[in-house]
Amino acid sequence: GRAHIGVTGLAVMGSNIARNFARRGHTVAVHNRSRAKTDALIDTYGHEGDFVPAGTIEEFLDALQTPRRVLVMVQAGAATDAVINELADNMDAGDIIIDGGNSLYTDTIRREAAMRERGLHFVGAGISGGEEGALNGPSIMPGGPAESYRHLGPLLESISAHVDGEPCCTHVGPDGSGHFVKMVHNGIEYADMQLIGEAFDLMRTALGMPIAEIGEVFRQWNSGDLESYLVEITAEVLGQVDTRTGRPLVEMIVDSAGQKGTGRWTVKSALDLGVPTTGIAEAVFARALSSATDQRERARELQGGATTAAPVDTAEFIAAINEALYASKVVAYAQGFDQIVAGSREYGWDIAPGDLATIWRGGCIIRATFLDRIKEAYAEDPDLPSLLLAPYFRAAVEDAVDSWRRVVSTATLTGVPVPAFSSSLSYYDALRAERLPAALTQGLRDYFGAHTYRRVDMEGDFHTLWGGDRSEQRV
Ligand code: 6PG
Repeated sequence: GRAHIGVTGLAVMGSNIARNFARRGHTVAVHNRSRAKTDALIDTYGHEGDFVPAGTIEEFLDALQTPRRVLVMVQAGAATDAVINELADNMDAGDIIIDGGNSLYTDTIRREAAMRERGLHFVGAGISGGEEGALNGPSIMPGGPAESYRHLGPLLESISAHVDGEPCCTHVGPDGSGHFVKMVHNGIEYADMQLIGEAFDLMRTALGMPIAEIGEVFRQWNSGDLESYLVEITAEVLGQVDTRTGRPLVEMIVDSAGQKGTGRWTVKSALDLGVPTTGIAEAVFARALSSATDQRERARELQGGATTAAPVDTAEFIAAINEALYASKVVAYAQGFDQIVAGSREYGWDIAPGDLATIWRGGCIIRATFLDRIKEAYAEDPDLPSLLLAPYFRAAVEDAVDSWRRVVSTATLTGVPVPAFSSSLSYYDALRAERLPAALTQGLRDYFGAHTYRRVDMEGDFHTLWGGDRSEQRV
């Protein structure tokens, strides 16, 4: 065969990636379960590069140079398993299967082990950037065996986004690490969007600003510290006028947010790893609450009490929201990176957090100028205990903290829900606290369950005879 790579699964993401390879000068074999999609791709985009259309898996694999490289772009779950098994049955030792979908990382760990047993390389690769990114340069997070990256790296790097000449693609680590970090990327994406939503809600509800003006505020923010893809497109969405009614489109969209799973997976994994990824958790729960439409319908009659009026100085309060958004965002990223470090330790993946900051600077949904600062922070100290302790972020958050408190308290007083802003501030306060009430929790656990506690002044585990003479025993 002569094709450098094959793509199977030609829905929008798959066909855009195939076109991206072809446009970069690679010969691409393309295959889809139903032939019609393959033909449509060739009819419409065949002139863009060197495609080899294949009707069957056998034809598809014959078209490829060895070791064969096949990128699978089908729906995560059972469909992915079916395609992988069919490919594996027809492939030879040393061939490489790449799963570019949003697969659950534990599935990827299982598949990698099964393929390794058959002498094949299996690479779970997170791909971010949506349809546009797939076509013009996504951020790519491949896991799998390091050896496979020798054959795969140059190809993937050639189609990825680039920032300052560096590709937004790197070998993340072995087995499921690529999909694990893509999952956390999506979790951060959820948190980012929730924080943006809370900032928007404060301007709309507490300040009573017209939607178009709020869009303008986001447009301005996008040329400051908050410069990012999500803030940029927030301005776009808020600026959109409904063609049917002439009102801002956002007012015509049902306020129930959906989710396909990656945010929820991030939180489940955070619970298992014992990492307090509170910002992402609040974002996932906020989507769930928004979708509890029956309950919300009934609960509209609940009274909110003596909520106060909006702040007087609008411009000043907008500036405070900007700072609160920035500080909360630092917390969300700090937590996400903590989870990556914890996952890496749990699975022995040896992930370099700074590498992720580097490849997330372009191509992906959470791309932001901010990531440059995170990259620098990890370059300075690869073992950074928390992003909040990096000198740059520490200074930025300490500068913002007064505004952050004012925004959260104003939100509380005016009755605007800000779960992500407020939980991020609580996280910050808890993390820096001299003493936490966890001491009392330990006392209570010892009281009712003899769970024991440790003392601040002595080594060992202790139990107080709560039901007896209340003397203390070393256990
Ligand atoms: C990306 C996106 C992409 C997709 C998510 C959205 O990085 O390109 O994250 O993967 O948009 O699956 O997930 P929800 O449907 O759960 O919001």
